[in-house]
Amino acid sequence: MSTEPPARRADPVKRLGIRDIAARAAAAPIVALTAYTAPMARMLDSHCDLLLVGDSLGMVVYGFDSTLAVTLEMMIAHGAAVMRGAARACVIVDLPFGSYQESPAQAFRNAARVMAETGCTGVKLEGGAAMAETIAFLVARGIPVLGHVGLMPQSVHGHGGFRTQGRSADEAARILADALAVEQAGAFATVLEGVTEPLGRQVAEALAIPVIGIGASPACDGQILVTEDLLGLFGTFTPRFVRRYAELGGAVAKAAEEYAADVRARRFPGAKECVGIGKDG
Ligand code: KIV
Repeated sequence: MSTEPPARRADPVKRLGIRDIAARAAAAPIVALTAYTAPMARMLDSHCDLLLVGDSLGMVVYGFDSTLAVTLEMMIAHGAAVMRGAARACVIVDLPFGSYQESPAQAFRNAARVMAETGCTGVKLEGGAAMAETIAFLVARGIPVLGHVGLMPQSVHGHGGFRTQGRSADEAARILADALAVEQAGAFATVLEGVTEPLGRQVAEALAIPVIGIGASPACDGQILVTEDLLGLFGTFTPRFVRRYAELGGAVAKAAEEYAADVRARRFPGAKECVGIGKDG
């Protein structure tokens, strides 16, 4: 038997937990993006603190005109894929419309399925004061919850469209109260979407938990965007709050155009893409 010590293995990457998210927010803004697939998660993982498997996938991936038709099964399939791709980022999966609003027990049953079948760290759900009891119920039973207040896409019809929230004093006061209710209920952080900048700043200053903004304020403790928006891969509608860091949609169309021309002209496949002809055999 060898007396050699076993070779030292490289330390496995440690996944960030909800405590790390809060600690990081104290030092620098939290970097968050959406991810729906394993390859995208792999590309984003080392750059992000938090990856959200958002139900925006209904619009971005499935072509629905809202998030309302997204099912629990879709969220579980994409959540599991993202977990296979990301080793370091804290992965949170959205609970889709209709899977949690009925009762805290319904929310627990479905959130537990998401946690067990994906291996994610926690779930996100939309709603402020109206969802506080549900958030507290989940947190008390070991399920970390990321809140989501302000513009809530699952309430698009109630909001009268995807419009900025908090323009009137009443609306702003309600959103601040919602954010405080989510914090009080035990959420580890909250998303704040689509509000006026002064309100975004006010909410970020009022809450002790991290506030992750999207179309909110630079004063938030972190920022999140839909990855396909910043890559220029989702052309249907680009909200004002998106900054495009790449125009990959044009690159994809150009690659498809060149491929089509090569196939039609019999330039693809060539000798080096075939086996048994040419000098490489
Ligand atoms: O569904 C989603 O992707 C989201 C983010 C935009 C915050 O909720």
